[in-house]
Amino acid sequence: MSNDCKRAYITTPIYYVNDVPHIGHAYTTIIADTLARYSRLIGLQTLFLTGTDEHGQKIQEAAQKRGKTPQAYADEISGKFKTLWDAFDISYDKFIRTTDEQHQKGVQKAFEIMYDKGDIYKDNYEGFYCVSCESFFTKTQLIDEQFCPDCGKPTSIVKEESYFFKLSKYEDQLLAWYADKDKCVLPKAKKNEVINFVKQGLHDLSITRTSFDWGVKLPESMNDPKHVMYVWLDALMNYITALGYGSDEKNLHFWPATVHLVGKDILRFHAIYWPAFLMSLDLPLPKHIGAHGWWTRNGEKMSKSKGNVVDPAEVAQAYGLENFRYFLMREVPFGQDGDFSQKALIDRVNSDLSNDLGNLLNRIIGMSGKYSDFLVDSKDILAYHKKEIDTAEKIIEKLPSFIYDLQLNRYLEELWKILTIANQSIAMYEPWVKIKEGKTEEALALVALVANLLAKVTIKLSPVMPKTCATISKSLGFVITHDSYQKYIVNKELLDTFTMTKVPPLFPKIEEELLKAPEPVATQEKKKEPKQEEGIITIDQFFQTKLKIGTILEASEVAKSDRLLQLKVDLGEEKPRQIIAGIKEFYTPESLINTQVCVVSNLKPAKIMGNLSEGMLLAAKDKSGLSLIRPESSKKNGTPVG
Ligand code: ME8
Ligand code: MG
Repeated sequence: MSNDCKRAYITTPIYYVNDVPHIGHAYTTIIADTLARYSRLIGLQTLFLTGTDEHGQKIQEAAQKRGKTPQAYADEISGKFKTLWDAFDISYDKFIRTTDEQHQKGVQKAFEIMYDKGDIYKDNYEGFYCVSCESFFTKTQLIDEQFCPDCGKPTSIVKEESYFFKLSKYEDQLLAWYADKDKCVLPKAKKNEVINFVKQGLHDLSITRTSFDWGVKLPESMNDPKHVMYVWLDALMNYITALGYGSDEKNLHFWPATVHLVGKDILRFHAIYWPAFLMSLDLPLPKHIGAHGWWTRNGEKMSKSKGNVVDPAEVAQAYGLENFRYFLMREVPFGQDGDFSQKALIDRVNSDLSNDLGNLLNRIIGMSGKYSDFLVDSKDILAYHKKEIDTAEKIIEKLPSFIYDLQLNRYLEELWKILTIANQSIAMYEPWVKIKEGKTEEALALVALVANLLAKVTIKLSPVMPKTCATISKSLGFVITHDSYQKYIVNKELLDTFTMTKVPPLFPKIEEELLKAPEPVATQEKKKEPKQEEGIITIDQFFQTKLKIGTILEASEVAKSDRLLQLKVDLGEEKPRQIIAGIKEFYTPESLINTQVCVVSNLKPAKIMGNLSEGMLLAAKDKSGLSLIRPESSKKNGTPVG
């Protein structure tokens, strides 16, 4: 992140409303909040944007499942995000919703411009779609020709008329941008992944859908009402529509964004599609796209579908909001994954905050009370402690570079070195001995040194822990503002004479884990398993797959699909199962009726091209074709196989 202009525009992803917020969302938002507060502190005119992503198939299906309209459902969950950010004192300047009319207008305008430029054309899309990632894939990209390479969930086949964006046209321009702007994508390792992806060649991107309707309509000039925009085209545009693009453009001077903060799961959309859209619109590109890693629980990405999420409100309630913020910013290097553990959080609070910072403040309050009735005067500091002040100033000079590289953990680590200087000075100079020896001036100079070091740390820490730092600075006789930043950090002035005030302990030590969250079941099971050879499974593992014999009662074609048949299979259960099978090229529906097959009966139901599939048929396929696996002689429906 650089401050080469007077403005800062900082964004979070707009979060999908199919899911309540968890600490992953809080992490991105708190990093962005920290950067926004930092920008304001150093005097930049700052706009901090967050919001919710409310269109698309995923939201439409999530709403349907709950028997709600997509709009009512989006209102409800969007409200939960907003309420959480308000409770967390997130200093956003604008909260955008993609259902806002102003946003939709802006997206339509962008579509028109891209179309008029010749970057959009109409064709047919045929490929695979992951609803969870709202992402298109070719067959070769899938895992086992079926599962999403990003999230592992089953994909569905999509075959529909679609408008395409000429992404391939921008391949060279994108590569030139990555080469030219060293820090356009941070961290570097992530940037290299993006470059490699683009170098493999970009396909044009399907940017409209016709099989559902919960999305932004095409502009009226297109006269094609059955299409809605692809949710990612709609969503990415939020970064400019929030500034008024296509409507009231009064904030458009904030563009280009200083930094788009995102998780690594959505880097491709931000570092490839988004800049290509902007090139098509002849708009400047964002200065930085920062992709952080994932918060995991016991090594697995935290997500609601896995049932392993940690509720950020509960953590903040149990351990203190600002302690939680400090932990999130300090614990994990930007770009890397981190495993959330209460123990790590407790250790950070007890050692960094309670010992290094809180105790230090209390000690000098105590000393100044005893030695000088709380009066602190900086006049003798340079006579006794010039070296300590100089070392601290050197550290402070290096700090902005960590912010610009989004390395907040390194920023805090360096900042803490100043606290170490302060703590070591007390241990070394032993002011209580100086007092006994009658060297009061020296003792008071030491107290003043520590007060000054604390003041500088507090100003620099304030974007991460605003309230705590406000309390500390109050006890040190000043208020944290851009002016005090200018005075004590930029101009390196020392504190004026002041009277210290007492504060209650800021970081009481935490003795035990306060959240009683059960471990996810999957992990408990995993722990019990002994190590085993790769690719070899135990008999118990084999029997986790429940194979059963069933009879096909009905078979019919799936509309618009060359591959799929829809079957009703009797597995000896109350109701026959509906199974969607990719066998149309090899079997006619009539030839299947009343034949027996072998079915994986405990597979998680999935939607394939909008049709529920409640199992999978076993089959063998080679060059000569596909053959279903069947019992040699007729078996009762539901007979287990194994
Ligand atoms: O992707 N660890 O929304 P989304 C760290 N609507 N961060 C996490 C996380 C985890 N376990 N889980 C989620 C979308 N995040 C789109 C974005 S932007 C134009 C459209 C954070 O609700 C992280 O920032 O799935 C990730 O990128 C984002 O939430 C995904 O949120
Ligand atoms: Mg997601």
